[in-house]
This record gives sequence, structure tokens and C-alpha cells, in this order.
Amino acid sequence: MGGLRSRRSVLAVPGSNPRFVEKARGLDVDAFFLDLEDAVAPSEKEAARATVVAALNDGGWGDKVRTVRVNDVTTAWAYRDVIAVVEGAGAELDALVLPKVTSARDVQWLDTLLTQIERAVGLPVGRIGIEAQIEDAKGLVAVDSIAAASPRLETLVYGPADFMASLNMKSLVVGEQPPGYDTGDAYHHVLMRILTAARAHDLQAIDGPYLQIRDVDAFRRAAGRTAALGYDGKWVLHPLQVEAANEVFAPSQEDYDHAELILDAYAHATEVDRRGAVMLGEEMLDEASRKMALVIAGKGRAAGL
Ligand code: GLV
Ligand code: MG
Repeated sequence: MGGLRSRRSVLAVPGSNPRFVEKARGLDVDAFFLDLEDAVAPSEKEAARATVVAALNDGGWGDKVRTVRVNDVTTAWAYRDVIAVVEGAGAELDALVLPKVTSARDVQWLDTLLTQIERAVGLPVGRIGIEAQIEDAKGLVAVDSIAAASPRLETLVYGPADFMASLNMKSLVVGEQPPGYDTGDAYHHVLMRILTAARAHDLQAIDGPYLQIRDVDAFRRAAGRTAALGYDGKWVLHPLQVEAANEVFAPSQEDYDHAELILDAYAHATEVDRRGAVMLGEEMLDEASRKMALVIAGKGRAAGL
């Protein structure tokens, strides 16, 4: 996971809308996906492929992680989405997002198809990654085998809207607690399950969208919860959400500096003094402290602190 690129903010861009695609280039996001799935009307699905291919080939994305969300494996669009995007712009693509993944087989299908296309067009085999959206009951139940399904997997992405629908939740506000549930966080189990499966397989875990796009404080609160658990980033739907995501998913400067201090102190203790535990001010450090500090320092370095 250490080698994976920062994905604090992952911008959703409807693939059928060249104006949104153009705007996306100028936003300070770590990653984006050009959507061929739920943000594109069925009548526009085929035309959107060409828009997405042109957007990738036109470049200008800086060092953002460039991804495309194809339609799910049960649709008639999925295979042609993959072929059109990878044949048309495979060299300009970092990963494909596969929505509504319900079994390891879905991911393996995409892995095989990617390999065939890479061979056919002379791209390096295995470079294009896969991001799997876990967004229904079946996907959650199978999340461990999904996480282990392919070496191309880079992230597991929680899809709250489809998930809430899949569970028959009595709520219409995506990403918020369902009204009437006041005994804790209704999503805790789901979020932890996805995060644990991701970490067990060295994948990043990404939180999905918050649909009340003008309420930045509420976005910040929702993002703060998953960042606290350990999630690496969150989808953003609007420029207003970008800065909040970049801030919330990076450690504070103070925590980052403290983490680097712990790493230095512990390295000195083990390498020079040959001790496994050491005091740093009032705090006792051991090997587990080093690992925790490494997480914060890693996130801080990736965020350029
Ligand atoms: C995202 O795809 C969601 O369903 O929330
Ligand atoms: Mg969805």
C-alpha cells in the first residue's frame, strides 16, 4: 500500500459532459474518475465513451490519478466500455473503477479482459489497476475474496447510495445517519468491514460520495469519521468539497511533525542504544508506536507536509 498514490480527494466527473471534464482539469484533487456509469443517462452511454477517451488523450491532468468508471458486469455496456477506453486511451489511464462488485469473479473478468487488450495493443501487461466498489449486501459479504481477487486491485471503494438502497434503508440522505437510528453510527460495521478487508490485502480504502454538496460542514463531519477510522480518501462531487477532503485525509502538521519525531527517536533507540522501548518526553515508545507513527508520517509525506 505504501507504493500507492495519494487519493485523499477523488473527483467524480460525468463522462458525458465535456464542460465538467474541462473544469475537472483545474481542480486540486489527488484523483478523478470519468464516469460511464450512474452519472450518464442510458441514451448517452455510447457517446460518453468517445468523450472519455478524448479527455484522457488530451492530457493536462498533472499528476492526478486518472481513472474511468465503467458499467457493472451485469450490463450490456461493460465489455465495450473497457475495450473502448483501454484501446483508445490505455496509455493515459491509471485504473478502471468497477462498480457493484459482488464477487471475486467480477474482478477476475476485468483483469482477464484488461490483459487481453494490453497484449493486443502493446501496452505493458498489468499496469492498469482496478478499483472495486463495494455497494451492496452481496459485495460486503464477499469482500474478503474480492480484496484478494487480483494483483491489479488498488482500492476498495464504499458506495453509500447503492448500499443504502440495497439494505432497504429508510433514508434518502446519502452519507448521513438514517433518521430514527440514534444509537451510534449506522455505517460503522460496513465501513470497518471494507477497511479491514482492504488492509488485509494492502489496498487503499476510499469512502464514497456525500450528496448534499453545498453543506461543506456536513461533508467535513462525514469525511472526518472515515478519516479517523483510517480511510485514505473520499469521493468529491463539487469544488467546495475538494479542499475539505484534502485537509481531512491528511494528518495535521502537528501530528505529522510528532510522527517524524517518534520515528527518529525510536530509530535512535533501537539502532544506537539497542533498546526496544524508549521515552520521548512523557510518552513511552515501542515497536507498535513506530508502526502507528509510520502511518501518519506516510500520509503526511504523501500529502507533501
Ligand atoms: C456510489 O457509487 C454510490 O452508490 O454511493
Ligand atoms: Mg453506486
